[in-house]
Amino acid sequence: MSNGKSPDGLLTNAKRLIKGTVRAMLSGAERFGKRTLIGGRVKFALDGKTVIGDQFTADGSLSAISIRTRKGGALSIGNHVYLNSGVSIDAWHDVQIGNDVLLGPFVSIIDNDRHEVEPGAILQRGPVIIGNNVWLGRNVAVMPGVSIGNGSVIGANSVVTKDIPPNSFAAGVPARVVRELTIPDGWVRH
Ligand SMILES: CC(C)(COP(=O)(O)OP(=O)(O)OC[C@H]1O[C@@H](n2cnc3c(N)ncnc32)[C@H](O)[C@@H]1OP(=O)(O)O)[C@@H](O)C(=O)NCCC(=O)NCCS
Repeated sequence: MSNGKSPDGLLTNAKRLIKGTVRAMLSGAERFGKRTLIGGRVKFALDGKTVIGDQFTADGSLSAISIRTRKGGALSIGNHVYLNSGVSIDAWHDVQIGNDVLLGPFVSIIDNDRHEVEPGAILQRGPVIIGNNVWLGRNVAVMPGVSIGNGSVIGANSVVTKDIPPNSFAAGVPARVVRELTIPDGWVRH
């Protein structure tokens, strides 16, 4: 049996890293960090400024992941960020994702409403800022103009329509803070 430490496992890991590096280089990002793992269907459409940090992992093996930066828009993703299957990120203006962030399956992040609800309605548009050490559970949708503070967790199926303070667990539609989290300095989720 091969594991990450056996010769076979080391070879498999090395192959995955090489594949990830090649896909990162072909992605069109202005900068892509080291130790990238990109598996399965991961579609990059990067027509705006896109910067991605080290240890980026995207697992599109079960459902395709889509990462888009529109012309004139900007997307920055920090170090050690994990995207599960089905994640969609669509940056028309400015999407910022910090370090040590976990995005659960089918998380959706968009910074522009795109369509009027009724004639003359104001379209929401604006930066989406996801802090460091944030975990978004399965199916979370983050609305335009929203910030999620460092250390916070958003429960599965929530829709985040307003800013969430740091170190909070928020859940629901719309997402409300359920409780404060006790997070020691330097602790990050895995
Ligand atoms: C993040 C999560 C683990 C938090 O769970 P937790 O710490 O056990 O939550 P709590 O027990 O403190 O819940 C507190 C309250 O919030 C409610 N709550 C928890 N998760 C909720 C959710 N996703 N939506 C709505 N309410 C939720 C609980 O029912 C509880 O309500 P009550 O006080 O009226 O009984 C959980 O919400 C979750 O999303 N789990 C799935 C994670 C996931 O998507 N994993 C996929 C891989 S990334």
